[in-house]
Amino acid sequence: MSRDTSDSAPLQSSAVIHEAVQTLRNGGLVAFPTETVYGLGADARNPEAIKKIFTMKGRPSNHPLIVHLAAPDKFDQTQVDWVPVLAPWVRDLSENALKLMNTFWPGPLTLVFKKDKSVLSDLTGGQDTVAIRAPAHPVAQELLRKFKGGVVAPSANRFGKVSPTSAADVRSEFEGELGLMVLDGGDCEVGIESTIIDLSSGDHAVLLRPGLITPKAIFAKTGIKIYQVGEVLKDLDSLPRVSGNLKAHYAPTTPLRLYAPGRVLDTLSEFPDTKSRVAVAVWDSESSLVLEDHPSIDVEEIVVSSDAATFASHLYRTLRDLDQQGWDLILFPEPPTGEEWDGVRDRLQRACFGSGPPSNNHDSN
Ligand code: TXA
Ligand code: MG
Repeated sequence: MSRDTSDSAPLQSSAVIHEAVQTLRNGGLVAFPTETVYGLGADARNPEAIKKIFTMKGRPSNHPLIVHLAAPDKFDQTQVDWVPVLAPWVRDLSENALKLMNTFWPGPLTLVFKKDKSVLSDLTGGQDTVAIRAPAHPVAQELLRKFKGGVVAPSANRFGKVSPTSAADVRSEFEGELGLMVLDGGDCEVGIESTIIDLSSGDHAVLLRPGLITPKAIFAKTGIKIYQVGEVLKDLDSLPRVSGNLKAHYAPTTPLRLYAPGRVLDTLSEFPDTKSRVAVAVWDSESSLVLEDHPSIDVEEIVVSSDAATFASHLYRTLRDLDQQGWDLILFPEPPTGEEWDGVRDRLQRACFGSGPPSNNHDSN
């Protein structure tokens, strides 16, 4: 994983950052780039500002938000002391928590802790835990450093929809919100949301949302074992409320389905009504599909990377673009097995489930 994101991204001028800081201080919202996806930010200590996020996203108010914090000024990892940064937000910091922060922050990893009592329940959905991350993107870092406080930021998309990975995506997502300030930091390098690890139980570190940083990578670098939810919780109802846990999420309006290796035609035959114009994603490692025999279907192939991180970095961009192009159906290949694909598989499965026009959505949960 590269820590040094977006070298080529347009950096915002200090006047623009200053205006963004003022906007946050005045209780306004600012959309900003992170290395994963763009976030819709508000002052984490201002309940009115937090309320605006839920309203603008159309998100249920009991879904908790992530607090984003600046890394301490010194960027030398061995020098960074996270304790004072975290102290105003969390109740206790374990050795494991410090190890994870020292290894992966700033970066695409979110950690869930027992919250300090000063943390507003408006942002935790009423739970006694708080999710925190220090993003690596230089524009996010500069904004957070100058703001000198925590910024809550969900992905800057309407609830259930595809997360934005460029400033233009954010603007199109919130077209009607003319006053929204959007900081431009170029295209997001990671492309899917951060990995979330729950440390709040005090015993097991539990994976709540897969991302670029995998349990295997965490174990290799820190020796900390990351458990899957199913390994530690018998009662799945006691899971914290994570909107990414909804079966339908990250979804385009065009119907989206996955096909098993070599089974494009079989998958198409399951959709007799919606197959006149079909976009089919194919692995860059595979030769072209043979669909000429199918006169009734207008198929276009989109080549996708067989490298998991590259695939992830383009996934939402590709889904958004395809969604704009008026296809009747979008087909993606099932991601291969292997932990490095878990983040992508998770997003694609939820995107399939929620895809299609609003009346077709089966958001059950
Ligand atoms: O990469 C990311 O994490 C992006 C960028 C903008 O930082 N943010 C993001 O935020 O994905 P959002 O709100 O779209 O997703 C945050 C997830 C939600 O699924 C939420 O339920 C979960 O984090 N979460 C927040 N606080 C939590 C808590 N206390 N316990 C468990 N899950 C929590
Ligand atoms: Mg989101």
